[in-house]
Amino acid sequence: MIELRSVEKVFGSVRAVDGISFDIKRGEVFGLLGKNGAGKTTTIKMLTLQLKPTAGEIFFEGRAILGNEIFIKSLLGLVPQHLNFDQDLTVEENLELHARLHHLPKIERRERIDELLKFVELEKVRKSFVRELSGGMKRRLLIVRALIHRPKILFLDEPTVALDPQVRHKIWELITDLKARGITILLTTHYIEEAEALCDRVAILNRGRLVALDTTANLCAGRSLEETFIALTK
Ligand SMILES: Nc1ncnc2c1ncn2[C@@H]1O[C@H](COP(=O)(O)OP(=O)(O)OP(=O)(O)O)[C@@H](O)[C@H]1O
Ligand SMILES: [Mg+2]
Repeated sequence: MIELRSVEKVFGSVRAVDGISFDIKRGEVFGLLGKNGAGKTTTIKMLTLQLKPTAGEIFFEGRAILGNEIFIKSLLGLVPQHLNFDQDLTVEENLELHARLHHLPKIERRERIDELLKFVELEKVRKSFVRELSGGMKRRLLIVRALIHRPKILFLDEPTVALDPQVRHKIWELITDLKARGITILLTTHYIEEAEALCDRVAILNRGRLVALDTTANLCAGRSLEETFIALTK
């Protein structure tokens, strides 16, 4: 579904991503782990066409990015690391705005917003301003906002950061549900148990380089994923 070939991103003297190659398969939940500053968000930004790689190539369904930007953007949904809502719009207005940006016709917009608010149990706050929501509600809204145009590939950059265990488990259920619907998912997280619970395969980045890529079971070989992670990212 997605192929990265020797992808690099350099910011001045910082090699944020230092020549990574891997594939993400259709329908899998793919975990990208790494310490702060390892290059996870930079990788997601290149995969979601927000940043151009300094070198290397990325393919979506066999197509290179150059010349296929509109097609590729239609495939993608992004849940960014940092909340970027218009806090002075209501829940409903935020989704409406996003649906319009994706050129959804009016009737479809209505249906889709109703369906998604129900999916994440936010119907009761649909008229509330985003600034009035709790952190967990904002995270759930961020996820459904990314789903409005029915993307085939969803990028989740630390979707459960700073959430209580109940809300985190709700988001896990949501991710499992999306996988069951056939959506391909790339997820970053600092919660190792989250990667263990959700991911089919995990890639570990260290200082912009890929230091491991396998199923969690194969990666660990008798150790916990946390121990493996710490050993590989010293
Ligand atoms: N726009 C930018 N300009 C300059 N340097 C940047 C920029 N964006 C990221 N970097 C640098 O690139 C490196 C990788 O950053 P990135 O945000 O990709 O890390 P991350 O793995 O997502 O970390 P975290 O877990 O803290 O979110 C860091 O050294 C960071 O300072
Ligand atoms: Mg990040």
